[in-house]
Amino acid sequence: MSKNKNNQPIWSTRIRKNSQNLYKKIGGSLSIDKRLFNEDIEASIVHVEMLFKQKIINFKVKNKIVWGLNRIKNEIIKKKFLYDEKYEDIHMNIEKRLFDLVGEEAGYIHTARSRNDQVITDFKIWLKKANKEIIKNLDMTINNILKKANKNVETIMPGFTHLKNAQAVSFAHYLLAYVEMFNRDKKRFNSNFDSLDENPLGVAALTGTSFKIDRFYTTKKLNFKNPTKNSIDTVSDRDFVIDFLYSCSACAIHISRIAEEFIIWNSDAFKLIVLNDKIVTGSSIMPQKKNPDPLEYLRGKTGGIFGNLFSMLTILKGLPLSYFKDLQDDKELVFKSFDQLKNSLIILNDILKNFSSDKKRMLELAESGFLTATDLADYMVRELNYPFRKAYLQTAKIVNFAEKNKKKLSELTIEEIKKIEKNLTTDVMKVFDLKNSINSKSSYGGTSFENIKKMIKSYKKNKKWQKKLFYYFFV
Ligand code: ARG
Repeated sequence: MSKNKNNQPIWSTRIRKNSQNLYKKIGGSLSIDKRLFNEDIEASIVHVEMLFKQKIINFKVKNKIVWGLNRIKNEIIKKKFLYDEKYEDIHMNIEKRLFDLVGEEAGYIHTARSRNDQVITDFKIWLKKANKEIIKNLDMTINNILKKANKNVETIMPGFTHLKNAQAVSFAHYLLAYVEMFNRDKKRFNSNFDSLDENPLGVAALTGTSFKIDRFYTTKKLNFKNPTKNSIDTVSDRDFVIDFLYSCSACAIHISRIAEEFIIWNSDAFKLIVLNDKIVTGSSIMPQKKNPDPLEYLRGKTGGIFGNLFSMLTILKGLPLSYFKDLQDDKELVFKSFDQLKNSLIILNDILKNFSSDKKRMLELAESGFLTATDLADYMVRELNYPFRKAYLQTAKIVNFAEKNKKKLSELTIEEIKKIEKNLTTDVMKVFDLKNSINSKSSYGGTSFENIKKMIKSYKKNKKWQKKLFYYFFV
């Protein structure tokens, strides 16, 4: 609760009894929304400048308040600001200090404004920065994947379905699948700006205000695009929070998938990738162990990020319009997801820089499990003009024969093959070559080396363009 000069809560004339101590302690949000001090002061300064421009407050009052707010900002930055839980949240703490600094005239600051529009204005300004920060980290992630992909265009590995060897792929192709995912994440974070660019300031508690304010002025000064259109919706709306928490969740899914993939590939059973000592931890009892803890951390933390989304969805479900205290929890959920996602991306980037592919082992695994069986079926369709189902059947027979005789397809002799499918000639042997198999997948989006080289180039080109556009719009 904010207190006036006589150290009474602002609403003490009306509410004469103190609330329970426990509620006072847990009902506040100061420890969480402290983080919004910068945005709160920025928005308050623009608000009083607008009030002055509209002749709602005079020059002297405006200057006093702006001076006080700048001073408070300095105190907070220099860690000299005395926070007091008694004053519920960051908005009331700042307002209380403004009273101490400039006296009663501080009270003009809250003309034509409520904490309901104040808090979402601050929050939206903060979220815009948060979105940019995540996009920056995603760019680094994509960059690191591209670097790894560039070194592994011709690294042959088994592509899996059901975690069983399916068809041969380039390791780079696998990695580039994650570039697609993280690019989609970027798009999601970018599209969050649509709603974040609507300025809530000036809708006051829920109805708008009788003062002749200029919402277009504050919109421009605070770098929003438009004022929000309905005052009741504005103070009730937290869709922009759900959007952010969902974007974080989708991104966390991708992080957890690559983490799990790397855990499997690093396992002693697979041994497809090697993790540098920088990104493993030891065991307290088993001296030989090098555990992929950071990867497990990434996978595990995804749960918390989903939890924050579900908490917000549940808070909003069935909540009547307009502002309710329930909404106060939105910030804690967003801050937690943001911090977690940012940390996860930083750690993922570290991992991407500190692992290598075991090319020999990847090839060895790709050579087992009859990976070229589909190539053989395709060959019969093309060369013998068989319907695919017939070719599939004949191939299955050849695979069965090879399996029974403990041979790879490439180790079969043409005589053995001909016993099953008499129309085949020695020409067929080329389909068992893994490199040929990969390079034959030259359909758009396929795994052929040429396709991959082109894709890496185009990702890099897009990156350059995006950088230019980002600079143009945001800087
Ligand atoms: N700390 C509050 C929040 O974050 C500020 C809004 C308070 N408004 C109110 N009517 N109690 O939601």
